Amino acid sequence: MTNVSHPAPQFSPGEAVDLATRHFGIAGSVTPLDSERDQNFKLAAPDRSLWILKIVNASEPLAESEFQTALFDHLERNSPDLAVPHLRKTTQGASLAHARGTGGEDHAVRMVSWLAGQPLAESQTTPALLESLGGALGRLDRALQGFIHPGALRSFDWDIRQAGRARQRLHHIGDDRDRALVERFLDHFDAEVAPRLPALRAQVIHNDANDWNVLVDPEKPERVAGLIDFGDALHSALIAEVAVACAYAILDAEDPIGAAARLAAGFHAEYPLREEELDLLFDLIAMRLVTSVTLSAARKERTADNPYLSISEAPAWRLLNRLGRMNRRFATAILRHACGFEAAPGARAVTGWIAANRAHLAPILDRHPATLAKALVPYGDPRNPMTVTSAAQQPDKATAWWDAYCAEHGIALGIGPWGEARTVYTSDIFESRFVEGARRANHLGLDLFMPAGTRLYTPLAATVRSVEIEEDPLGYGCLVALEHAPPGCPPFITLWGHMAHEAGRRLKAGDRLEAGALVGEMGLPAENGGWAPHLHFQISTDTSLAARDILGVGEERYLDVWKELFPDAAELAGIPPETFQQSGRSRPEIVAARKASLLPNLSISYSEPIKFVRGEGAWLIDDRGRAYLDCFNNVCHLGHAHPDVVDAIARQAAKLNTNTRYLHDAIVTYAERLTATLPAGLSVASFACSGSEANSLMLRMARTHTGRSEAIVLDWAYHGTTQELIDLSPYKYKRKGGKGRPAHVFEAAIPDSYRAPAEWPDDEHAKRFAESVAEQIADMARQGRAPGLFLAESIPSVAGQVFLPDGYLKKVYAMVRAAGGICVADEVQVGFGRVGSHWWAFETQGVTPDVVTMGKPIGNGHPMAAVVTTAEIAASFNNGMEYFNTFGGNPVSCAAGLAVLDVIERDGLRRNAQEIGCYLMARFKALQDRYEIVGDVRGQGLFLGIELVEDRKSKAPATALARRINDGVRARGVLIGTEGPHDNVLKMRPPMIFSRANADHLVGVLDETLAAVLAQEA
Ligand SMILES: Cc1ncc(COP(=O)(O)O)c(C=O)c1O
Repeated sequence: MTNVSHPAPQFSPGEAVDLATRHFGIAGSVTPLDSERDQNFKLAAPDRSLWILKIVNASEPLAESEFQTALFDHLERNSPDLAVPHLRKTTQGASLAHARGTGGEDHAVRMVSWLAGQPLAESQTTPALLESLGGALGRLDRALQGFIHPGALRSFDWDIRQAGRARQRLHHIGDDRDRALVERFLDHFDAEVAPRLPALRAQVIHNDANDWNVLVDPEKPERVAGLIDFGDALHSALIAEVAVACAYAILDAEDPIGAAARLAAGFHAEYPLREEELDLLFDLIAMRLVTSVTLSAARKERTADNPYLSISEAPAWRLLNRLGRMNRRFATAILRHACGFEAAPGARAVTGWIAANRAHLAPILDRHPATLAKALVPYGDPRNPMTVTSAAQQPDKATAWWDAYCAEHGIALGIGPWGEARTVYTSDIFESRFVEGARRANHLGLDLFMPAGTRLYTPLAATVRSVEIEEDPLGYGCLVALEHAPPGCPPFITLWGHMAHEAGRRLKAGDRLEAGALVGEMGLPAENGGWAPHLHFQISTDTSLAARDILGVGEERYLDVWKELFPDAAELAGIPPETFQQSGRSRPEIVAARKASLLPNLSISYSEPIKFVRGEGAWLIDDRGRAYLDCFNNVCHLGHAHPDVVDAIARQAAKLNTNTRYLHDAIVTYAERLTATLPAGLSVASFACSGSEANSLMLRMARTHTGRSEAIVLDWAYHGTTQELIDLSPYKYKRKGGKGRPAHVFEAAIPDSYRAPAEWPDDEHAKRFAESVAEQIADMARQGRAPGLFLAESIPSVAGQVFLPDGYLKKVYAMVRAAGGICVADEVQVGFGRVGSHWWAFETQGVTPDVVTMGKPIGNGHPMAAVVTTAEIAASFNNGMEYFNTFGGNPVSCAAGLAVLDVIERDGLRRNAQEIGCYLMARFKALQDRYEIVGDVRGQGLFLGIELVEDRKSKAPATALARRINDGVRARGVLIGTEGPHDNVLKMRPPMIFSRANADHLVGVLDETLAAVLAQEA
């Protein structure tokens, strides 16, 4: 290569004019330009075109001169539009001319066009300009991709692959700290970077986009106008092009890595970089600076104490020092992210995996955090007393404020969200190392505030990575790092900060923890870094970081990057997203709006109404992210928002929804499938939209078939909301607003064995209660009437989850039929396998009704209902009047109904109902053994009741207690109801997917509530 100590050529301007005229055919005027090792003249041609005449140092091997002209030739041929100098051929058509120097030595001479523009060194560096520079280099290198020349295979100090040679110049650096800094970069380069360089893409690059070689368009200062001086071009690692340009462009930048990221992104947009290239960029930028400062130090020694050299190197040293303080993984994450790559490899797969598997994670707290009443801790408000006292390191005051807030608002779990901007981080350790003058203030973990001593469990199997005690004020205190590597997910780390020191004594690196295993407890201020007790829970998708290097708080500017590196741990901790963001109207606003614009007869459950915003399986999630276990709403038979039903509805709705006057497959398929679940004979189906409509249709059939309107119903029954059904519902006509029993309706006693007269032998309950029906028939007869129908729920529900005594319906049906009436089973609540042992609850009584009405669970929430009857009744109903129901039996409803039947069968939900029902009954009986007020427990499958009494002997209903227990259960996050004539029966109808864990949760809450309410009572 050129010998830098070899003197530059010494041609006079006159000789230069002569060379230009003779070899290149331009007789112009020349102006000498600065050059360290060659001689350059600016040449103004008569036609006003501008050129540069370069007389190359005689020591430069010809191959290198030829390489440069070949490079220009290549670009000229393949990318003539690139903003680079264009080679002017000699009058002989050659790329190079030759000139003999005064000493007789041969100089290569070439001419290139002059590029207009202002050097970047004299321009304002903006992000847009950096991106433009990256883009210009990207376009250049893309054009050079296929170009090679023997002269490109050069070896010199400015080749980034040779950056390790700087170690030989280390001794020229006088300052110990500076030398140690450079040495650290060199050590890392030798160990980690140099071995990876040979595997990277290599090609011919410009290799010297310093700020004097980059020209900016003076008209558009955000645009690079050209790149000049290809004197350092060579075949090297492609990424070196970006690294070299960055090393100059980011000097003294407020945010050097941000600036480098813009430049890299500009390059990437034109010539996509690879992850493995970006992974080395930070170090290669540093190594360009290392090369520069060490060469200068060496030269400075030779040129004595040249103050100019130290001034020109000062920005490089400043930058090197700043880079030295940065975490290279974070810097690399910023660079990767700017080019659209994951901040850390696998980061997106980790968050994707957690999202897909969140339902299967072990709860991090004894009680699942989703189920707890939550509120955000006010660290986002700088003036809040808790924030102020926390920042002032007065944890006891902060704790007292928070405890009082929780007590007042019934909050069990405080949440400090990811990303929140906080003013509590007051110490120096929170100064940004990336952005000059900025602080790290945005929280990158998830804080869970609970009392000290709260036990914390790992949501996934883990290996303990590290356990340490951080003593800094406002540090982590006891800090545990776990590594998780679930199958199908890249490994990731969880960080557990502010723990009690007990975990530090119990755990050691390498320990295995199963999912759900204890990690430790929340620490007291004395051991948790001086905070109100809480857990700082954080994910790191970069597993190479040591626990202390994981950024718990980050710069706002790079939240996008931190989000991938340290994603929000809320999902992993089981915190529903609604905790962080509310939408729609507040609860009081909705109550007020209901009052203003809805029928006042609508009732609202609970004195403090709940606003639910989402349903998922057995859970209902309220507007503040609290999940309630739904043991009450039997409409969502398969669980809320069951994906199969949602999908079936969506797909059919997107295709066609019409009515029964057109042919469609779904309605006949559904009728066949539905009737197949019923005993033979019940073979004709018709469809409606609600249980009331089904019962109304049934009434029309019964009246048409029997010619009678007289009906026998059970006391306290409910069959629907239309007037004719209110007339058949003692639960309505006997209570407030009711007009009493109409003359055509006859009431039989509720066949409630628990409240049967004590003197009745158990095995006579069916007979004795059936006598009440016989009495009604006799009463009718006395009035010259006869029953048109007997209507009963197969398990009377609003009457208090009453299980009919064995043989009851057999006796009743026989009497009613003998009197000419038909028998109707209202299965609106209890049907579709809820009892587990059978599809239909009437089957448990060994009878077959003449008509069955169905609703509620039939479409898992889609408004739909059905009536199934015999061919005979259907025939007599066919009296010439059409049955048309606009929506009944439409294709979308039938698709929903089919999906429900499919899922019940496919997922064995009847068996589940039976198993979990038996389990619940056993656990309820255990409660009955412990609590005197539990008078009776009854249930079949997932239709269950607990009757509360003040005294087991008198069976006086414990109505007030039942209400308090219902409220207490709700306060603990479980939904049940109360029912029965005395409102003293706890009613439970959980979805068919109810699991054993759900059952344990329900029983645990019932137990806790019973104990709490009775303790208050005592
Ligand atoms: C036993 C029974 N039948 C009929 C109905 C009426 O159903 P819908 O409210 O769908 O009209 C109900 C509703 O609660 C019911 O419980």
